[in-house]
Parts: sequence; C-alpha cells; structure tokens
Amino acid sequence: MKAYIRTYGCQMNERDSENIAANFVEKGWTITSVEDEADVIVINTCSVREQAEQKAIGKLSHLLSYRKWQKRNLPIIGVTGCMAQNRGEEIAKALPRIDFIAGPRKTHLVANIAIDIHNKVLQETFSPRERLRKPYIDISDDNTSHLRINKHYNLSKTSNVCAFVSIMQGCQMNCSYCIVPKVRGVMRSRPTDDVVCEVKQLVENGAKEVMLLGQVANAFGREIPAQNGVSEFVRLLQKLNDIDGLERIRFTSPHPSYFRDDLINAYGSLEKLCEYVHLPLQSGSDRILKAMNRPYKSADFLKIVDKLRARSSDMSISTDIIVGYPDETEEDFLQTVEAFKQANFDMAFIFKYSERKGTKSAELNDNISDAIKEDRNQRLLAVLEKQSMDFHNAMIGKTYQVLVESNAKRGENMFMGRTRNHRKCIFKADESYIGKMVNVKVNSATVTALDCEIV
Ligand code: SAH
Ligand code: SF4
Ligand code: F3S
Repeated sequence: MKAYIRTYGCQMNERDSENIAANFVEKGWTITSVEDEADVIVINTCSVREQAEQKAIGKLSHLLSYRKWQKRNLPIIGVTGCMAQNRGEEIAKALPRIDFIAGPRKTHLVANIAIDIHNKVLQETFSPRERLRKPYIDISDDNTSHLRINKHYNLSKTSNVCAFVSIMQGCQMNCSYCIVPKVRGVMRSRPTDDVVCEVKQLVENGAKEVMLLGQVANAFGREIPAQNGVSEFVRLLQKLNDIDGLERIRFTSPHPSYFRDDLINAYGSLEKLCEYVHLPLQSGSDRILKAMNRPYKSADFLKIVDKLRARSSDMSISTDIIVGYPDETEEDFLQTVEAFKQANFDMAFIFKYSERKGTKSAELNDNISDAIKEDRNQRLLAVLEKQSMDFHNAMIGKTYQVLVESNAKRGENMFMGRTRNHRKCIFKADESYIGKMVNVKVNSATVTALDCEIV
C-alpha cells in the first residue's frame, strides 16, 4: 500500500510530514512521490497567510474531482496541519468527501487513522456512500504531542546528511497578526535528553548537520532556570556540540526577546554552531512593532545584530519582514528599510500582511491597499538583492568549508553543498562526496548561489 504526502508551510510542517511518513513505513506501507498511484493522500496544510490556505484548498478541490480518478476508486484523502486545525469544521462541510481531518498536534496518529479507514473500505465495513458523507475529525487539544515526534523518514529524496529535529512545539508569543499560537497550542519543549538521543541516532544513520526547529527555538527549556547565566537552550547546544560525528548545528527560528548574551557568546565558542542566524525583525518601526506585540525596539534588535557580527566576520543574518501591517505609514516603512540596511541582511522573506481571522490584528482595519503592499514589497526586495549580491561578491576568490549535500540537478557532475554561513555552493564532484566536508574556492556568484571548485 502506498501513501503520498504533500506539504505546505514551514519546516516544522515538513518535519511533521517526515514523522507521518515514518509511521506509515513502520506499518509496512511505502511512500510514493506519484500522487496517482497512492492509496492514501495526506495534504499537510499551512494557515499563516491567505495564499497558503488558497493553495491547499485548490489542491483538495482538484483531488476530489471524480474526473481525476475515473479509472479507479477515490483514494483515502486526509487533511492535516495548521489549516486542518484552524478551519477543520468548515472544510468538512465544504468538502465532505474528504476522509479525515487531523490537527498538527495529532501528527503521530495520522497514519493510524488513514490506515484504519483504508482497511474499513477494503473490508467494506462501510459503504462508499457512508464513507463520503462526513470526514473523521480529530482537532482536539493535545499538549503532550511534543513527546511523540521522534520518528524520521527522509522525504526530500536527496540525502540524509542534513536532518531536521523538532525541539519544541507551539508558541505563546501572541504576535498580533499571527495564527500559529491558535493552531499549534502553547509552548512545549521536549526533554533535553530526548533531543540529544535523537540527534545521536541521526548521526549514526549518516547525518552530519542538524537544524533544530521550533516556533521560538531559543525559548527551548525556558521553564528550567539558567545556570550561571546559561540558558537550557545553550546547554542543549553544548551537549549537541559534544556529539562525535556531528559536524554542524543550526536552529530556526529564534525570537529577539530570547537572544541573550549566553547565546551570542556560543557563536565562536561552540565550534559546531554555524555562523548563520535567521532572526525575524518583522518591522523597523517601533510603533508598528508595538502594535504587532513584538516586545523589542528596532535599536534592541540592531544591538543583537552588532554583537553577532562581532563574534564572526562570516556571520550571515537573514530575517522575516511584514509590509503593509494596518496603519503602516510611508514613514514606518522607511524605518523598516533603514533597519534592513543597518542590519545588512543578506537573505530575507518579505511578506505582505495577510489578515487572519481569530488574531488580534483582525480587529483592525486592513487598510493598506494591495498596490501599496506590493510596492513596499518590491522596494524592500530591491534592497535585499543588492545586499545579497554584495555579500556574495565579497566571497569571490576565498575558500570555504562546504558540506556536500546532494546532486545539484544542473548537469551530471554538479553537486550542491552549503558553507557554514548557509550559502549555496555549486561545484563539480561525484556521488562519493555526498556527506563529506570539502574546501571550495568561490569563482563567481549570483544572488542565489556561488559557483565554486573543490580545492
Ligand atoms: N515563529 C517564527 C515564524 C512564524 S511564521 C517566528 O516568529 O519567527 C513565519 C513568518 O510569517 C513570520 O515571521 C512572519 O513574518 C510571517 N507572518 C506570520 N503571520 C503573518 C500574516 N498574518 N501576514 C503576513 N505574514 C505573516
Ligand atoms: Fe507567530 Fe510570533 Fe509565535 Fe512567531 S513568535 S509563531 S510570529 S506568534
Ligand atoms: Fe504555516 Fe503552521 Fe508553519 S501555519 S508556517 S505550517 S506552523
């Protein structure tokens, strides 16, 4: 039997899909990348912006059209993830032919639910008509779900070299625009030893690099008191740094409020912690930050950036920005541009504000026109492009350590790997290099990648 899993949204969702896949495999199923041959289709959804929801709804409507499945029975179709949590009942009404709907805290149950329905259909315990009347729904709260997320199955098809590890779930920062706290529940950290154990296992299976994941990754273990000013998160990094065979540690996303000196000082002292930080700023205007319920000022953020850059000249810093938040003036936007330049971000995700029902900002008037949002988006993208290009140009002629990840899909012998500061390098190599550390010299650069040669 075969399952097909399609993922929308963030890396945490990708990680959840790996967990779902592992549970199918454990029960003797295989994972297919061909939707048309699947017995079960899982659509793992995102709710963070309107567009993400639209994409998943479009996909589901297409999947449910009988015409698509003319030659065979409709496969079992399930919706999981954040939109399942946020709009589960609504989806069930609008698309009753979906078989099941399960929230992001039910990830560990998805394979069971799907296989159970599949078996009942096979054994004709329920008739096709019965099956198509109303989906099975499980979107109740479960704040112990973070204790059952340690199974891995590589869905990316490239290699096992870099692994995602979820270290905490949920969020209660309650940024006024954000749906995540509503759909993912309160912050729950996994026990430190569970994480260490999982990483050791991954390293035994070939992983060289781990990306620790959490909505507020650096708030990990915040209920455990700091020891000599060192937080539980930094203690986790120290323990991971001691694992033989592990070469690199990254994490995403940290929140500026938890980015204290113990964490800043870990850069340069923990040799496996890579010089790359994705630190969401959201806005450079203190007035907008306050409205967003982001508890820091632009100057506080820039201070963290300065301290990080002082730890290493290779430090790469990326960010998330929202343009067109309610009442954002041209002046507010220019302050964002200014902070963006001062921080000298070399990578960024820039989003147009999208009103989400059930959030605090949805009570405000979404009064910035789409034309203005688009204009601000484009202007900031232009700044980003220049900064990325400058960052890359400064790397030309120099030599960097790269972990070879996979075939670059750009001609037969071209492979892809990243520098410690997360720059994508393309170079000539062969399969035997995958998982190895090499030194490469940068010959030329585009905004998105570096053309290199192994030296
Ligand atoms: N927990 C992470 C990421 C959350 S979602 C963090 O706090 O950094 C990823 C990004 O989506 C956010 O950083 C934010 O920039 C953006 N985002 C969240 N809600 C949004 C909304 N309603 N409209 C537009 N962008 C949004
Ligand atoms: Fe959303 Fe803010 Fe939590 Fe990030 S920190 S997930 S933006 S509420
Ligand atoms: Fe989207 Fe949920 Fe991630 S809303 S961004 S998939 S936490």
